[in-house]
Amino acid sequence: MTFHSTIKLESQQINGMTQITRLTILPASQSGTAIHVAEAIKDRLDALGSHVVEIVEEGRIPDIGFADTDVLLLVIATHGEGEVPDSFLPVYEALQTQRPNLTDLRYGVVALGDMTYHNSFCGAGRIIDGIFGDLGGSRIGERCEIDASTQPFADEDALAWLEHWIEAL
Ligand SMILES: Cc1cc2nc3c(=O)[nH]c(=O)nc-3n(C[C@H](O)[C@H](O)[C@H](O)COP(=O)(O)O)c2cc1C
Repeated sequence: MTFHSTIKLESQQINGMTQITRLTILPASQSGTAIHVAEAIKDRLDALGSHVVEIVEEGRIPDIGFADTDVLLLVIATHGEGEVPDSFLPVYEALQTQRPNLTDLRYGVVALGDMTYHNSFCGAGRIIDGIFGDLGGSRIGERCEIDASTQPFADEDALAWLEHWIEAL
């Protein structure tokens, strides 16, 4: 599958100058898949060249108001019984205790899970999506949910979703 012809990139014109969109990818991973997916997405966007894309290092708490980014892409694995990975707990707790106003933030969600966990399928991604929405963030497009029991190559589904997601930016 190729994406070259259909992906359109956002750029804003301010005072005649083209503004590059700053896109931050925030992964939450226990065993590496979400990191791999985040890197695949960054590689794809870097190749297209119209965004400045940064992946937040795992365990580093970003500015919890996300003021230094235009668009945030959350790539969230589910562990335990519908819980966020341990590495994401500091961000999760900061969101809940500090309750930042995210009305200026646009975000997307890629949720990784496994349908054999039934009711908790992609639970962490769904919870995090709900928190960002409650705090005023505007989700771009639909949430991407990837089932490890049927798709061993999560990056394939993520890149296919990216094609449509980026059109909604
Ligand atoms: C111990 C364990 C618990 C899991 N619990 C859930 C769960 O409750 N719901 C779900 O949808 N997936 C669950 N998963 C599946 C993971 O979310 C899935 O394999 C994901 O791709 C892992 O991403 P990561 O490698 O970035 O941690 C679990 C996986 C493991 C190993």
